[in-house]
Amino acid sequence: METIYVNPMKILIIGNGGREHALAWKISQSTKCSQIFVAPGNAGTQLDKNLTNINLTHLDAWLAFALKEQIDLTIVGPEAPLAEGVVDAFQAAGLKIFGPTKAATQLESSKIFAKHFMRRHHIPTATFAEFDNKIAAHEYVNQQNAPIVIKADKLAGGKGVIVAQNINDAHEAIENLLEPDSSILIEEFIEGEEASFIVLSDGKNILPLATSKDHKRLLDEDKGPNTGGMGAYSPAAIVTPEVHARIMREIINPTISGMDKENIPFTGFLYAGVMIDKKGNPKTLEFNCRLGDPETQPLLVRLKSDLLELIESAIDKTLHQAETVWDRRPAVGVVLASKGYPNQPETGFQITQLPDLEEGVQIFHAGTTCQNGQILTSGGRVLCVTAIGDTLKLARQRAYEVAEKISFSGKQMRHDIALKSNSNKIS
Ligand code: AMP
Ligand code: GLY
Repeated sequence: METIYVNPMKILIIGNGGREHALAWKISQSTKCSQIFVAPGNAGTQLDKNLTNINLTHLDAWLAFALKEQIDLTIVGPEAPLAEGVVDAFQAAGLKIFGPTKAATQLESSKIFAKHFMRRHHIPTATFAEFDNKIAAHEYVNQQNAPIVIKADKLAGGKGVIVAQNINDAHEAIENLLEPDSSILIEEFIEGEEASFIVLSDGKNILPLATSKDHKRLLDEDKGPNTGGMGAYSPAAIVTPEVHARIMREIINPTISGMDKENIPFTGFLYAGVMIDKKGNPKTLEFNCRLGDPETQPLLVRLKSDLLELIESAIDKTLHQAETVWDRRPAVGVVLASKGYPNQPETGFQITQLPDLEEGVQIFHAGTTCQNGQILTSGGRVLCVTAIGDTLKLARQRAYEVAEKISFSGKQMRHDIALKSNSNKIS
């Protein structure tokens, strides 16, 4: 029998990407919520009758809205508002909000903070050096071997990292990434296969989500520039039970307990980007203080548990009593992006042929807007077609069948999302 809650909750979700559409879609299935606002949302959240877009894009406006509307819980999708201190501001106003504080968000907003933190807590990661002056950075690179990785010490939407294949490219990357009054990191290149490892934490307790894997490069076969992510799937076969246990023991547990010991407890979604070498040794590439985009899309179509209850449990610090139930079937998300993404996306084109969907297939919107009854592209990543299937291969086929049908001028997509996973061999 379905439980009817006496005081259903009013929820505010901050963000406008595919991750936030998926979050809003999943939260709307909870019997505990009455109304969901998305600020500012996109065409997908606007067209969903269970959701209400509000055209507010700044912290002060979100805060005023949440106070006026007596929002019971705010959930923050992207990193920028977290790094700006949205959680601190809402908490100071006595409002319930889910996400890390500004101080805890440094794990993502400052790669140098994250590197020193990992060093202090013996968390495996690539060796590094940091520079705020170009001459020293160029001299350092001359003494290193390629490939070598250059990273800006700021939020850059996944675009502040250059994996230089030779030393000339490394010099060029220094010129491009080191701005006045900023710093860069120069990192050892580590080889292996990447996975996204995302957990929920209440500051002390940890609840891992299912594993997933992103495809960061723009083009097939991992060619072209890094992007925010061109597609993802869950689960990630590379994360075997042994590797899972090691990531928890060597990376996640020391991070959550280290943050707690340093008096900056981490409450929220913690995402470790990990590189796993041939022997199954995991190393941390980066931390994100939020759910991944597009990893969230396949993850949430697989999550059977009530996400709102899990988030409440994290806020109430009772995550040790919570558990997650996942659909055992894999899911695949394929991103459709605008021409020019990731550098200069061309937008404003009509999206046509959004097909009727079968059970287990979702089109999550990202850079879309409604105008005069039409859906137009409005950002770099436009849609993420996400499908579940009995095998990864079938999930892939179902997602691509729909992704191929959707049309807009300049549409870009990869054709090899989830193609090389080891789990294809068993499916
Ligand atoms: P990050 O934002 O730090 O995760 O970097 C973006 C992407 O660059 C990662 O997903 C990796 O594909 C790649 N990358 C970052 N750091 C390294 C590294 N030290 N070695 C090899 N690849 C890296
Ligand atoms: N998909 C990578 C990220 O969310 O940072």
